[in-house]
Amino acid sequence: MGSHRLAYTFLSQEDLLDAGCFDMRMAIEVAEQAMLAFEDHRIMFPEKVVQIFDQVSQDRINCLPATLLDEKICGAKWVSVFPRNPKRFDMQNLSAVFILSEIEKGFPVAVMEGTLTSNMRVAAIGGIAAKHLAKKDSKSIGFIGAGEQAKMHLLAMKVVRPGITECRVSAKTAFEEEQFVAQLSPLLPDVKFVCTNTVARDAMLGADILVTATSAQAPLLKAEWMKPGAFYSHIGGWEDEYAVAQQCDKIVCDDWETVTHRTQTLSRMYRDGLLSHNDIHADLHELVSGGKAGRESAEERIYFNAVGLAYVDVALAQAMYKRAQTAHIGEQLTLQETMVFEHHNILSKVRL
Ligand SMILES: NC(=O)c1ccc[n+]([C@@H]2O[C@H](COP(=O)([O-])OP(=O)(O)OC[C@H]3O[C@@H](n4cnc5c(N)ncnc54)[C@H](O)[C@@H]3O)[C@@H](O)[C@H]2O)c1
Repeated sequence: MGSHRLAYTFLSQEDLLDAGCFDMRMAIEVAEQAMLAFEDHRIMFPEKVVQIFDQVSQDRINCLPATLLDEKICGAKWVSVFPRNPKRFDMQNLSAVFILSEIEKGFPVAVMEGTLTSNMRVAAIGGIAAKHLAKKDSKSIGFIGAGEQAKMHLLAMKVVRPGITECRVSAKTAFEEEQFVAQLSPLLPDVKFVCTNTVARDAMLGADILVTATSAQAPLLKAEWMKPGAFYSHIGGWEDEYAVAQQCDKIVCDDWETVTHRTQTLSRMYRDGLLSHNDIHADLHELVSGGKAGRESAEERIYFNAVGLAYVDVALAQAMYKRAQTAHIGEQLTLQETMVFEHHNILSKVRL
């Protein structure tokens, strides 16, 4: 009789960092490959399961599954979003765990810390959008919001637009802006950072690339701050006045169909009858596969909206798991030594 032992690899965030998984270039490549696989119908991507515990604060835990048919991996992100955490507990808003299973026998192969993966995925998608939609000679980037998504985005934008040498940042508090600069400036020594003491206009006016990554629900970004030729990456919910999208020459989404069911600025405009399918230039995977054009002139203002594609998370988690395997990093944990009734001492364990 063969062994009925089941084991999987556990990877903490520290394991992932030690294995070299905080690699934005890798994340961008993996996200591109995943989008191409999606276009080829090589990804299974069912609806996420949402459980909201507080309608006002939107405290929630979501389960987002996807299967990578070519990799023969089925995974799920189990992600908690508790927006009041920073204020109430001085703890992060978002935390996540991934589980990956192989689909030959269906057994789990890895359980992994998922916040790093999830945040890198959001940034990688923004980076891919910038690669196709931001001017090649972009030099300045402005942020409203200085949290985890904003920080990751700067790293991704710098990968695809290495000419960025100025970063202006505004947040709800000056302290957060300073923290952003303290954490990012050692990683990007050729970038000049400017804090704006919470004045969004000073961060955004005239920037080549504009990013909003806030927990706010308000029209913070004004259309007049976005110059011709600028690229805007929208990450949060309602963060910009309608005139921003209305003045843009192209609107690209990671997944427009999903946007129509959400509560982001474009979703609101769609519901208010101010935006229709015809106003959307493309979904991002169409730019990656070359089916649709990216930026076509130096004067275009371009709007990119991300809602989040969980199959990309699963693809990135799988890539990180493989990298950790190669580096022999991670802890092997036993799920079962054998099947229940095969345990030699099962008589002493059963309670009837
Ligand atoms: N589109 C996606 O794929 C995706 C994925 C993950 C998270 N998100 C969203 O991205 C947003 C940011 O997430 P995060 O993890 O960086 O959050 P975070 O809590 O780390 O940071 C939020 C930032 O928003 C700023 N902010 C809030 N209100 C503001 C205001 N009125 N003016 C200026 N700044 C303000 C805060 O100062 C802070 O810097 C959230 O809305 C989150 O739901 C989107």
